Amino acid sequence: VVFENSATASKAVAKEIADLIRVKQAQKQPCILGLATGSSPKGLYVELVRLHKEEGLSFRNVVSFNLDEYYPMEPDSVNSYVRFMKEHLFNHIDILPENCHIPDGLLSKEGIADFCDQYESKIESLGGIDIQILGIGGNGHIGFNESGSLQNSRTRLVALDHITRVAASGDFSGLENTPRTAITVGVKKIMEAKRVILLAWGERKANIIKASTEGEVTSRVPASFLQEHNNATFILDKAAASKL
Ligand code: GLP
Repeated sequence: VVFENSATASKAVAKEIADLIRVKQAQKQPCILGLATGSSPKGLYVELVRLHKEEGLSFRNVVSFNLDEYYPMEPDSVNSYVRFMKEHLFNHIDILPENCHIPDGLLSKEGIADFCDQYESKIESLGGIDIQILGIGGNGHIGFNESGSLQNSRTRLVALDHITRVAASGDFSGLENTPRTAITVGVKKIMEAKRVILLAWGERKANIIKASTEGEVTSRVPASFLQEHNNATFILDKAAASKL
């Protein structure tokens, strides 16, 4: 779906999420959201905060699972996804802290596999992700599932692509300070989400949006797996859609 600009697109996505949260509230059910970081979902979080403050949307029944975190990473670090989520969303709404899940950047290496298994089990025990929000990397990564990630990949520790590290290096004041690894929810759990919404804005995403939506389904472009999802939508502004 192509919108005039990212602001109107973000509002439409926020409305879909708010509607589902309210339906689940009426049913006394939790609403399970898969959340993303990066610049793409910022406008969505602004709008969700506005709906909370101005229209009384409550997040008490929301349970969230973030896609990824750098590893290693201190939660208080300026570049941690914990910090990002607090600053852009969690600190401004009434979601319960115990309902917010983000991969733990402080784990010991030996503890990562168990943590990842438990992360997936928790999602499963709640009935799976209702709405999964995604951004997309310039190389087609979703979460930190880089090129080469398989369609059935699990939540795991991954090595970051050089191009991903270069893109992030500005935040870390140089490539040498940029993490080499991250923990990411695998493609399999993303594909199991009942609804997937991928957000992409701007000219710089136009080529990868074309490859992901019109190119072959390939692990070289993990976002292309979404062609096989039965309820996935790419939400684009005009610039990101300009090569379609
Ligand atoms: C990082 C995140 C991804 C995100 C990507 C794109 O790599 N781990 O989840 O989709 O950045 O970022 P942006 O939205 O800033 O373009």
